[in-house]
Amino acid sequence: MKLNENIKIIGSNVILVPYEEKHVEKYHKWMKNPELQELTASEPLTIEEEYQMQATWRNDDDKLTFLVVSRQIFSDTQDEIESLVGDTNLFLRIDEDEENNKEIRVAEAEIMIAETAFRGQRLGWEAMLLLLKYVQKHLPIDKFEVKIGFDNVKSINMFGKMKFVESYRTDVFKEVTMERPVTKDWISWLDKQVQLTVEQYKNHL
Ligand SMILES: CC(C)(COP(=O)(O)OP(=O)(O)OC[C@H]1O[C@@H](n2cnc3c(N)ncnc32)[C@H](O)[C@@H]1OP(=O)(O)O)[C@@H](O)C(=O)NCCC(=O)NCCS
Repeated sequence: MKLNENIKIIGSNVILVPYEEKHVEKYHKWMKNPELQELTASEPLTIEEEYQMQATWRNDDDKLTFLVVSRQIFSDTQDEIESLVGDTNLFLRIDEDEENNKEIRVAEAEIMIAETAFRGQRLGWEAMLLLLKYVQKHLPIDKFEVKIGFDNVKSINMFGKMKFVESYRTDVFKEVTMERPVTKDWISWLDKQVQLTVEQYKNHL
């Protein structure tokens, strides 16, 4: 979606930037890695398909994506592409709550720290919470949701600590769904976890 096309979200150790054409080559390189394909349940794409995907992420109203920049690398190199370590995104949908006869606005979240040397440094934690906090303020979301492979214990633990709870399990896809309703309590918990500044982003950091 266009919501974030001209902004960056600045946290303590990461900056979230909109996914642009100039980032596609590096993103494509990450997604050639079979381990990342499995952990993120992604199909390998050609570079042309990846460019189309980037345009889709930018233009479709139900999708929001950011790339994750390491502030440490950027301060060392001043090179935005070099500083990219992963991505985080949301897919929006509307579910029917038939019992209460109302619609529930759901945002399915994903996070990936693709650069393995930068895992375990709290970047994934911070990037995900920055996105959730930003979105919670700017879009009318009732519930966040994540789908995670059974074996991805690290990710399951991380979302557990973010107060997501398991709601569904499918043996066919070997996947667990965890969800987090957007409640007052959770918003005040979220507010305490991360501080963010939103600034203009025009073509580069
Ligand atoms: C899962 C993934 C995003 C985690 O990101 P990361 O930067 O490596 O991990 P982090 O260091 O931010 O945080 C993970 C751990 O620190 C904890 N943590 C980090 N900061 C914290 C904080 N401020 N307070 C409390 N806990 C914190 C997390 O809960 C988790 O703990 P655990 O693994 O000991 O249970 C990353 O490993 C990854 O990209 N994996 C491959 C792709 C993937 O699996 N994506 C998820 C599919 S939805």
